[in-house]
Amino acid sequence: MRSLTLCTGLGLFAVQAVVGATSWTNTPFNPPSIPLAVRTPYLSTWLPQGQGVALNSEWATHWGGQTTAWTGFVKVDDESYSYLGAASVAGSSFTQATQKSMTFTSTQSIFVLSAGPVDVTVTFLSPVDATDFVRQSIPMSYMHVSVASTDGATHSVQVYSDISGEWASGSDSWDIEWSTTATDILSHQYTLVSPAVYEEISDRAQYGNWYYSMLNGAGATAQIGRDITVRGGFLNNSVLSTTAKDNNFRAISDSWPVFGLAKDLGKVGSTAASVTFAVGHIRDPAIKYVLAGNAKQARSLYFWSKYSTANQVISFFLNDYNTALATANALDKQVQTDATKISDDYAGIVALSIRQAMAANEITISKNAFGAWNTSDVMYFMKEISSDGNVNTVDVVFPAHPIFLYLNPKLGEYLLEPLYRYQASGLYPNKWSVHDMGAHYPKADGHNDGTDEAMPVEESGNMLIMALSFARATNDTTQIKRYESLLDQWTQYLIEDSLIPAFQLSTDDFAGQLANQTNLAIKGIIGIRCMAEISKLLGNTAKYTNYSSIAADYVTKWQVYSASKTGAHLTLDYNDDASWGLAYNLYSDVRLGLKLFPQSVYDEQTAWYKTVINQYGVPLDTRHTYTKSDWSVWTSAIVTDTGLRDQFISTLTAYVSNGLNNVPFSDLFDTISGKTAGFQARPVVGGHLALLLV
Ligand SMILES: *[C@@H]1O[C@H](CO)[C@@H](O)[C@H](O)[C@H]1NC(C)=O
Ligand SMILES: *[C@@H]1O[C@H](CO)[C@@H](O)[C@H](O)[C@H]1NC(C)=O
Ligand SMILES: *[C@@H]1O[C@H](CO)[C@@H](O)[C@H](O)[C@H]1NC(C)=O
Ligand SMILES: *[C@@H]1O[C@H](CO)[C@@H](O)[C@H](O)[C@H]1NC(C)=O
Ligand SMILES: *[C@@H]1O[C@H](CO)[C@@H](O)[C@H](O)[C@H]1NC(C)=O
Repeated sequence: MRSLTLCTGLGLFAVQAVVGATSWTNTPFNPPSIPLAVRTPYLSTWLPQGQGVALNSEWATHWGGQTTAWTGFVKVDDESYSYLGAASVAGSSFTQATQKSMTFTSTQSIFVLSAGPVDVTVTFLSPVDATDFVRQSIPMSYMHVSVASTDGATHSVQVYSDISGEWASGSDSWDIEWSTTATDILSHQYTLVSPAVYEEISDRAQYGNWYYSMLNGAGATAQIGRDITVRGGFLNNSVLSTTAKDNNFRAISDSWPVFGLAKDLGKVGSTAASVTFAVGHIRDPAIKYVLAGNAKQARSLYFWSKYSTANQVISFFLNDYNTALATANALDKQVQTDATKISDDYAGIVALSIRQAMAANEITISKNAFGAWNTSDVMYFMKEISSDGNVNTVDVVFPAHPIFLYLNPKLGEYLLEPLYRYQASGLYPNKWSVHDMGAHYPKADGHNDGTDEAMPVEESGNMLIMALSFARATNDTTQIKRYESLLDQWTQYLIEDSLIPAFQLSTDDFAGQLANQTNLAIKGIIGIRCMAEISKLLGNTAKYTNYSSIAADYVTKWQVYSASKTGAHLTLDYNDDASWGLAYNLYSDVRLGLKLFPQSVYDEQTAWYKTVINQYGVPLDTRHTYTKSDWSVWTSAIVTDTGLRDQFISTLTAYVSNGLNNVPFSDLFDTISGKTAGFQARPVVGGHLALLLV
């Protein structure tokens, strides 16, 4: 976990001088950390903010806080300005361009900086294209740098950027080796000299190749070498040296090798001239997956079904920029239109959540027996980022699942597929649903000893609710039909243990175990009812009738168990009258239109939450003052008063824009202090889209 220190050294004083404000405009608000290149668990580079940090005043970092140096300079009529990163270059002088604005959308973070007589617009585009699996699975992100004159005159402009070797490992002492390709693309590649497949250090992949690339052509130059040599060379000469070869492969931190690219934009007037850089990390295989018989399968990213070399895919990606931008703008607009129907605050929260949620996941395929890609064998894998790194954690997929329902429910089925297939193999011994596919990404090894983190009611209910949700949303019963007996097995477990849930964890495991959890019982009972609906879809009306009546009977009993004798609210756990909590599991009753729980429950909870809301939201439950952002949005979708709904959202916006945090959107935070209580960059923020579905 990172400390909450906002800045180091002099920065602290600067922060105090600008409390609550930046000298540039932020649209829609200044978030705790701004996504720059956020596509996969490993390509996840951000600009931490606190009270506000300009693009060219601190280093960008991986989500966990380690520096991933990314540098940018622009020369204007031979004057040098920095627009990105925090480099100092001994022997060369430059001025920091002045940041004028920062804007984020669902797919882009856009900075405008003024550099003497020109404006530099830096657009970080991390595409989200949930229906095009080739594009979505390309682990690359764009930085588009556009320059335009602001004084009516034309100016000679050259643009430079580099990345350091720090992107390649969680430890800077590892040796890297490198090369440059000059074809239709100008592309640097570097990799660890001693990679370890499927391994990580500090959540950073210990294998795969890093790329920093641009289209080749007139005015494009590239150079690899020591930081001050490459950067200083550009600052002195406005181009990079094509003859100075540094082939002294060495450690990431040994005279810091950097991978520089430069483009001469020539004479630039008020019509913008631009250059597009692409940063990426390609590893193959991507995922290890356990098959029946405990064999292990090596799975690869989907795009390999279309491109057979890295250079081909990089060339496609760079040439695809205009299409990618148009697609991204269309998605941004759709999300903005849909979310502003709730409120402007809500649109900001959703926009900040989409890249973070999607970048936790990777689309994979396997090879068939003849060595050809099998695009009928799609599996989608999610890393439980920051909390423990598990693979396809059911109770992390579950809070995130609204984003898949919104963007493409097929992706939801592809996330469940590895879990179903593993449990159908018979390797997993428990009668309830497994918690996750493997203890650490990207190894989906399963839990053949059955000692995965036990959340029996939680995960069984989650699987049933998601099974029905995705089948309905795709109009496709293939998957629920194939795995009907597993779904029925989990239903039997819920019939045994969900009305009076034994002492166990719910998804909120950080809050501890508890018996008789009211909200967990809601999930289990909804799970049973979902199996009734699944049975109906599969033509089994006897089961539909039986499971529907069991669920209805449980609701009647649950109402007695869960009611508080001292206040008009549900308890956190039965017979604990003063306790209460967010009854967010009711969301599935509402969204699926089950009408399983009576209206009085919704009305009562609505009245109650109005009395217990703090500055930064309603606490998760009476054990702590912290809350969860995902569950807050889910709860906002079940209350019967739009004023309270909007208060849930405005208090969440107050938290995420209060300047007190500097990590990628943390879903766990204190409702009184407004500070994160741990967790960052997790995919559960996909649950922030919940209001778009009701
Ligand atoms: C750039 O020019 C300065 C001043 O002449 C010199 O000290 C420095 O070494 C040069 N840097 C490079 C990388 O050539
Ligand atoms: C491709 O994968 C699907 C799904 O796992 C499988 O049913 C099919 O047999 C595979 N095809 C080949 C040619 O291996
Ligand atoms: C599913 O069917 C419904 C009703 O026929 C239709 O409105 C909806 O667009 C379909 N969805 C998909 C993903 O095909
Ligand atoms: C759970 O609630 C039931 C119903 O009120 C009660 O009989 C049982 O003793 C409770 N269990 C625990 C461990 O408190
Ligand atoms: C209803 O389901 C329960 C639980 O599976 C089972 O014990 C019972 O026999 C079923 N009842 C009927 C009438 O099928």
